[in-house]
Amino acid sequence: MMLSSCFRGTGPTARAGFVRGLHLGAPNPGSVINDDAYNNVSPSVAAKIGKDLHRCSAHPLGIIKERIELYFQKNTQALGQPQFKVFDDLPPIVTVEQNFDELLIPPDHVSRQPSDTYYVDAQRVLRCHTSAHQTSLLRQGEDRFLVCGDVYRRDEVDSTHYPVFHQMEGVRILTEEEAPARWDVSQRKEIASKDLKRGLEGLATNLFGNVEMRWVDAYFPFTTPSAELEILFRGKWMEVLGCGVIHDEVMDNAGRTGEVGWAFGLGLERLAMVLFSIPDIRLFWSEDPRFSSQFEAKTLTTFQPYSKYPPCYKDVTFWLPEDNFHNNDLFEVVRDVAGDLVEEIRLLDDFIHPKTQRKSRCFRITYRSMDRSLTNEEVDRLQEIVRGYITSRLDAELR
Ligand code: PHE
Repeated sequence: MMLSSCFRGTGPTARAGFVRGLHLGAPNPGSVINDDAYNNVSPSVAAKIGKDLHRCSAHPLGIIKERIELYFQKNTQALGQPQFKVFDDLPPIVTVEQNFDELLIPPDHVSRQPSDTYYVDAQRVLRCHTSAHQTSLLRQGEDRFLVCGDVYRRDEVDSTHYPVFHQMEGVRILTEEEAPARWDVSQRKEIASKDLKRGLEGLATNLFGNVEMRWVDAYFPFTTPSAELEILFRGKWMEVLGCGVIHDEVMDNAGRTGEVGWAFGLGLERLAMVLFSIPDIRLFWSEDPRFSSQFEAKTLTTFQPYSKYPPCYKDVTFWLPEDNFHNNDLFEVVRDVAGDLVEEIRLLDDFIHPKTQRKSRCFRITYRSMDRSLTNEEVDRLQEIVRGYITSRLDAELR
């Protein structure tokens, strides 16, 4: 079993009063890379498993997580209801059923494609959302719980995207007193929806103070109706979370036919970037004391940026391979080579040869370290390796 890389303040006192979930431990990162034809987990992503940033009390992600937990526990205490059970160490390897099928995500949905999701093998993925635990926990009889953990998505490269981030999920099933089974189901769902919205508006106020908010209709296959909460922050509407009343078929899949409840999910990085003024998502992973020493458990502070080092741009152009190429394939190759030294990859040009119909794309890669100046030689070397992999791994032809 892996030990969490952060020991600060995660002891029982920091969490007094919380009902804790089962400790199942983190898997060995090595085990997520194998020879299975489906396996597409890269070493740089595997290395993040078990870091458990959300369980570090003095890390911005841990601070936000605890604040959300505390909000829900206080709320339920005030109402004299039982506490939410917290599951913050469920292993990120889940089945395709848990991540997709049981949540009614259609078989042809883009999120299932290996260009978007990390597969361990044909049956197992690195969860792409904490919703993956909804049905199992409901099936095991849980009625009110919070799930927090690392989630994995193959995605673009810029200051707000990273292949690993953290989510917090909340689920609550209404009690017989709140919404008796003999009542009309639409009436019971109305009660769930109201309870959900009231609770989440309270959460947004707790986090952001007296901000303007609005509800926007949304679509998630596993909730209906579904909505997103947006807040007006520094003059811009920002999406904070997704939520909805749990779909009847999800309830059926969890063996809880006829019961009514709600679920929500939110991304911790997005909240933390705003609340601590953290400008780049890579900073969350920084082990530089100039970052880590700035934060204190239970406290929201403004991040003091330390000097940024100069960027170095490298363009690369290549003919796309004949069979399916996805930009994410390139993004991952660059992440694999450069790790956190890649800041951004931007598509500069998408070209189709008028005669041959052959396609070519040009990307600009920005290399920059958070901690030091990169030398030209170092960046040239990285770029050479990237170019080599474009040919050997992506089967593309450089121009
Ligand atoms: N899992 C959804 C996402 O990652 C969020 C969500 C959770 C929406 C629960 C509705 C209910 O986008």
